[in-house]
Amino acid sequence: MSESCRFPPDFVWGTATAALQIEGATDLDGRGPSIWDDFCRRFPERIHERSHPEVACDHYHRWAEDVGWMKRLGHSGYRFSLSWPRLLPQGKGAVNQAGLDFYDRLVDGLLEQGIAPNVTLYHWDLPLDLQSWENPEILQAWLEYAELCFRHFGDRVKLWSTLNEPGWSTMHGYLTGLHPPCQRDPRRAMQVTHNLLWAHSRAVALYHRIWGRPEPGLGIGIALNLSPVHPASDSPQDADAARLADGLLNRWFLEPVLLGRYPEEVLEFLRACGSAPHGDLDFAEPVSSGASEGGSIPTVDWLGVNYYLPHHATADAPTTDFHLNISGDPQEASRFSIQGLFRFVQNPRGRYTDWNWEVDPDSLHEILLRIRDLRRLPVYVTENGIGLPDRLCEGQVEDSSRIAYVTGHLRAVHRAMQEGVDVRGYYMWSLMDNFSWLNGYRKRYGLLYVDRQTLQRTPKRSASWFAELARTGVLQVQEPASPS
Ligand code: NOJ
Repeated sequence: MSESCRFPPDFVWGTATAALQIEGATDLDGRGPSIWDDFCRRFPERIHERSHPEVACDHYHRWAEDVGWMKRLGHSGYRFSLSWPRLLPQGKGAVNQAGLDFYDRLVDGLLEQGIAPNVTLYHWDLPLDLQSWENPEILQAWLEYAELCFRHFGDRVKLWSTLNEPGWSTMHGYLTGLHPPCQRDPRRAMQVTHNLLWAHSRAVALYHRIWGRPEPGLGIGIALNLSPVHPASDSPQDADAARLADGLLNRWFLEPVLLGRYPEEVLEFLRACGSAPHGDLDFAEPVSSGASEGGSIPTVDWLGVNYYLPHHATADAPTTDFHLNISGDPQEASRFSIQGLFRFVQNPRGRYTDWNWEVDPDSLHEILLRIRDLRRLPVYVTENGIGLPDRLCEGQVEDSSRIAYVTGHLRAVHRAMQEGVDVRGYYMWSLMDNFSWLNGYRKRYGLLYVDRQTLQRTPKRSASWFAELARTGVLQVQEPASPS
């Protein structure tokens, strides 16, 4: 049995990357240090195989070759991030002309090939001098950076997102302490989520003030990591645990971004435990100063969904315990448990990657429908993909499980579109194997295999498959033969 899913002709097909993960050249041409360069230098043992992003994929020098690959792989769009410390080495103040020149070359090179850039302002590489999103000066520095980018590139870049995965970066930066700035404090974590969401909303307002209201499908959005949280059992306790986790990890970000306010139920919970953030918590409140237009802070023009895996929550959480499987050894289970609130457990019926990430396309469908029910707006899948320990054998990388993963998830996207979700495009993570944060370089996500010695790019089997999909807009789904 086979089925085919036809996507609209103007559907955007592309891949996503992030500056720190691919550019390298961290000490070149005036780039300033970021909190991640510093973290990798100070705590090499916390990163798989003591990897670091100093060279990464050397995209800073090989960008033209990489744009050539995108063209060959059928891209009509490409999502990447600007490096804040490459543009403003101290986070604010002096602008680095070499940084502007690099991104001018990249943006112009993409446009020459008919590839629409989708640019993220912040993908975790905070300039070291700014230290943290708790810094009282950060909002001003952020708006200075955003304004520089909007004014300089906005004539050519028509799709922007403010932040990449504020939920994930705050959770690991301030709650589990696994990412820089390595803090473990739930109160501060919630304050930082607010500082980020507030910064996001002010940048959206600033963009609209400079460039006006865009056509539908363009303009400014945000890329949220969204993972449905399912109760681990039928018990009412697990249902409550899953609801709380969903509130903190999904609704806390979705509702301010789409509706301009926090979910009251989550806010009440945080007030009761003394962890509610301080500041103006009502994003839709009229404001008199700054960048807002028409007296109110506008919400996003489109939403970016980064989806990889679902969670399963139990109320049985006797300790606080965090651990990430960064080795790719399936025996090394990840742990996420907050004492007395919830703990994530494995789904006994689930299929898992070697890094313990469950493969579940239905959860992407579920998330897309939830967004539709909150607010009808254009959506892009800004990231989706699978990390595998790919190997190059005689010039080939056989990654049929990547093709199966993307097929399953695109089928879920197609189903959601038929049910009224306005999905405009799909950016697979990632164009090429890259520096996968704590996982180093072993967890490979690319359509292009990157040799760590030579940095040579080799298209995997999934690359030609993706190119054909992008060319035709038709996804072929082979049903597994049913047992007779
Ligand atoms: C989401 C992040 O945005 C990206 O930087 C990361 O590499 C992928 N997840 C895969 O882990």
